Amino acid sequence: MQQQLKPLAAGLLLASHAAAQATMPMMRFGCSQLVVDRLDPLVNPGSIPSPHLHQIVGGNSFNASMDPASHDLVEKSTCTSCTFSEDFSNYWTAVLFFRARNGSYKRVSQSQEEGLTGRGGITVYYIPSADAKTTVKAFKPGFRMLIGDATSLTSPSPAHKVCHRCMPSSGDNRNINCGAPDAATLPSSPCIGGIRSIITFPTCWDGKNTDSPDHMSHVAYATGAGTNDVGPTGKCPASHPVVIPQVMYEVRWRTDEFSSPDLWPADTKQQPFVWSTGDRNGYSQHGDYVFGWKGDALQRALDARCTNNVCAELKTQTVEEADRCTIARTVKEDVDGWLPSIPGLSMM
Ligand SMILES: *[C@@H]1O[C@H](CO)[C@@H](O)[C@H](O)[C@H]1NC(C)=O
Ligand SMILES: *[C@@H]1O[C@H](CO)[C@@H](O)[C@H](O)[C@H]1NC(C)=O
Repeated sequence: MQQQLKPLAAGLLLASHAAAQATMPMMRFGCSQLVVDRLDPLVNPGSIPSPHLHQIVGGNSFNASMDPASHDLVEKSTCTSCTFSEDFSNYWTAVLFFRARNGSYKRVSQSQEEGLTGRGGITVYYIPSADAKTTVKAFKPGFRMLIGDATSLTSPSPAHKVCHRCMPSSGDNRNINCGAPDAATLPSSPCIGGIRSIITFPTCWDGKNTDSPDHMSHVAYATGAGTNDVGPTGKCPASHPVVIPQVMYEVRWRTDEFSSPDLWPADTKQQPFVWSTGDRNGYSQHGDYVFGWKGDALQRALDARCTNNVCAELKTQTVEEADRCTIARTVKEDVDGWLPSIPGLSMM
C-alpha cells in the first residue's frame, strides 16, 4: 500500500506551495459507506427525515439527534467504517444523482480513491501545519462543524472551499486544495475517471466553542500566503487564533458509469448530474463533521506527523473490518433504484 501511495504523495508535493515543507505529513485514509440516509444531526437534529439525502461514514453511533451534551460517539459506537479503528467520528456530504433523459434519477455510486481499497465512501485527510513548529490542537469532544452551503443552488458561495474535478482515468492529484483545474461547478462533459469532489474545512478555531449556531463561525480559514494550498500555511485571524488540523474530504463519484452515448443527454448544454439538494450547478455540495476520536488518539497521530493510512501511534483495522461496519437506514425509502424524483424533493 505504501508503494501505491508514492505517486500520489509526489503529486501533492509538486502541487504544494514553495512555503510547504518537502516532508509535508498528511493523514489520508479511507472510510467506507456506513449508510446513505435522509438524516442530518447537525443542521436538522431529530428530524426524521431531514430535507435531503446524505452519505455518511465513520462510527456506527450515528443517528438523527446526536445531542452533543449526551451523545458520546466513542462510548456509543461499536465499530467504525474508517481505517483507524479509534476514529468514531462521523463525516458526511450530499449525494450525487444522475438524471436520465426520461426524467428518472439514479444514485451515483462512489469508489475508493487512488491507493486505497474497499467499498467507496469518503477519503478523509487530517493535515497538520506545514510548519513543524506550529502546535496543532486536536478537536475537543463535542466538536462539530460544516462547510459548504446546501442552499446555494444557483450561485457559488465563495466563502467555502468546495470544488469538483473531472478526473482522467488515473492520476491527476495536482493542486488538491480546490486550485485549478477544480471548479465550484460540476463538469459539463463526461469524465472518464468520474467526478471528484473536494471539501476543505478551515484550519483556525476560536479556542472556545465546540459548535456555533451556523456550525461555521467558531472556525475560520487562514488568511495570507498559501491559504489555497495543502495545509495551514497562512495566518489564523486574531478572532480564531488556535490552529486545528485541516480536515479534508475527497469523494470519487462513478459518473463514468453514465457516460455511454445512449445515456448521456442529447442536449449537451446541460450536464446530467444533480446533488441531493436539487442543485444541477454544483454549488451546494457540503461536508459535515462530528469529532469522535477515542481519547488523545488524534493528538498523538498529529504530534507524530503520521502520513497516509499507516500510523504506529494508532490502531488500524483491515479494509474488510471497516467494510463490515454499516447501519440500517432510518428513513425507509428507495434510494437505489431508478427514482421518479430525488428523495425529499418531490417537486424535482
Ligand atoms: C440517538 O442515540 C442516542 C444515544 O444512543 C439516543 O439516546 C437517541 O434516542 C438516539 N436518537 C434517535 C433519534 O434515534
Ligand atoms: C428511464 O431511463 C433509464 C435509463 O435509460 C431506464 O433505466 C429507466 O428504466 C427509465 N425509467 C422509466 C420510468 O422509464
